[in-house]
Amino acid sequence: MSIDYELLMNNAKEASKTSYSPFSRFAVGAAVLSGSGKIYKGCNVENSSFGLAVCAERCAIFKAISEGEREILAVAIYSPNTDSCYPCGACRQVMYEFQGDEEISVITENMGSLEINKLSYFLPCGFRI
Ligand code: THU
Repeated sequence: MSIDYELLMNNAKEASKTSYSPFSRFAVGAAVLSGSGKIYKGCNVENSSFGLAVCAERCAIFKAISEGEREILAVAIYSPNTDSCYPCGACRQVMYEFQGDEEISVITENMGSLEINKLSYFLPCGFRI
């Protein structure tokens, strides 16, 4: 499947607008392209009990999986607060779980240009049972 990276990034940008981040004031949006070709959006959701915050990437991935998806082809990540908003370690491992035959593409933006890397660039030796 050919991937429309721009479309995915635009969805991540849209998702960042719904971020609930009153504590860090660091908004993040993510958009996941599933194996079925659908796009799922997610944002970071924080909590007064700080440790309960959920990242945008995992929010989007869990939305996809809970709708029956089992494969993820690409994830776009965007924050209005920084260039190149790379996924945290926990989200990298969660992405790895839903990797199909092809590696997941991770799309970020740096000074208006898309950066496209494979998940193995961010997580060379993911854990699998
Ligand atoms: N955050 C994400 O949503 N994704 C990441 O990959 C890194 C961090 C969120 C969590 C928290 O709400 C805020 O960014 C500051 O850490």
